[in-house]
Amino acid sequence: MQSAQETGVEKCSAAFITERGLCQQIYCHGELLSTFTMRKFLVTGGAGFIGSAFVRLLLAEFPNVCVANLDLLTYAGNLDNLAGLDQKGHEFIHGDIADAAVVKDALDGCDTVINFAAESHVDRSIANSSEFLRTNIVGTQVLLDVARKMGIKRFVQVSTDEVMGSLPEDSSEYFTEESAFAPNSPYAASKAAAEHLVRAAHHTFGLDTVITRCGNNYGPRQFPEKFLPLMICNALNDECIPIYGDGRNVRDWIYVDDHCRGVLAALEKGRAGGVYNLGARNERRNIELAESVLAVLDKPRSLLKFVADRPGHDRRYAIDPSLAESELGWQPRETWESGLAKTIEWYQTNSRWIERVRNNEYREYYRKQYGTQGGS
Ligand code: NAD
Ligand code: DAU
Repeated sequence: MQSAQETGVEKCSAAFITERGLCQQIYCHGELLSTFTMRKFLVTGGAGFIGSAFVRLLLAEFPNVCVANLDLLTYAGNLDNLAGLDQKGHEFIHGDIADAAVVKDALDGCDTVINFAAESHVDRSIANSSEFLRTNIVGTQVLLDVARKMGIKRFVQVSTDEVMGSLPEDSSEYFTEESAFAPNSPYAASKAAAEHLVRAAHHTFGLDTVITRCGNNYGPRQFPEKFLPLMICNALNDECIPIYGDGRNVRDWIYVDDHCRGVLAALEKGRAGGVYNLGARNERRNIELAESVLAVLDKPRSLLKFVADRPGHDRRYAIDPSLAESELGWQPRETWESGLAKTIEWYQTNSRWIERVRNNEYREYYRKQYGTQGGS
């Protein structure tokens, strides 16, 4: 490949901020060859499971992108999740979304916010909800306020189907964008409150917002407090798999990269003030999921251990993604079989990642959550 000097192209001869972001102009022998806009996104929670996958997607999809990645690195945030990233367009900022000064600095030069940062685990919210209220509610309001004052062009709030509560088992009812809110756990209530604040920022202040609501994600780099990676990590170590209640609760599973592409489609094509449900039409009972994991890993059914149910355990989630499909032109690409195989393979080949996250703090959490019931 020829260098810029050999071709006569002067390296980025001019760069300035425009309404759409950082604009670069390329000159050749003094003549303007091309102008392109370098967009700068603020992704929050980008060292967590889904946020880090989204950062990878942005850097892969947009050659001229800048991504500021603001994350507090709680127990769930992990710089190992960013290993191998092309750091050229990526800046990691260690900080709190509930701190207005930090957010203001992080937003410098950005035109878009995508808010993934959250406390995300239902069981932890049942044990203690205080951090859920602080990060998920106060943090979202701080982001909205600073974004508005700084003239941010679009604010994407990554939300969850759990804000709509639980569907009856064995029915053909689905969550749509019109479904009423009925959050049942402190986590879901905090995400519902955050959605209300986003809606209010749009309605009252005219901030351009989009909300996405997704179901259960699975894929590489998910913290093993969540059911699927917990099962995989335990089974790989021949430790038992705790199944809450009768194991017949239904979740609607989607591969993490498909969710991220849906968030990107909403960011690019969503209506201002719009809400989009993202789902892969992939309802599965927990027991069925556990059996699939055991089958792929060739592990015995005796590893399954039925334990006390989660208090207030939602029975069924099922998403109707028709609106996102028709309005955003988005569709998941991964099948359940291909996504599960990729996920399990990732955990099999990343034992070092597993060892590092299953540290003493994790083991302490596990002991508290499961007592002797879910013990290995
Ligand atoms: P995660 O727990 O893996 O990651 C959350 C990230 O947020 C972590 O990196 C953590 O350090 C960071 N964080 C927490 N508090 C923060 C704060 N105050 N300031 C800055 N960063 C902070 O969560 P996830 O599973 O990747 O979920 C990401 C988002 O997607 C959440 O908003 C969650 O509600 C939503 N969501 C998750 C799922 C799912 O199945 N996991 C489904 C639908 C929606
Ligand atoms: O639906 C979207 C939501 O999915 C996200 O908003 C949340 O952030 C995410 O954590 C997830 O919530 P769930 O509570 O559905 O996920 P979890 O992995 O904790 O549990 C999935 C199912 O498995 C649920 O029915 C509870 C059950 N379960 C979970 C654990 C941790 C067990 O049976 N045993 C377990 O040990």
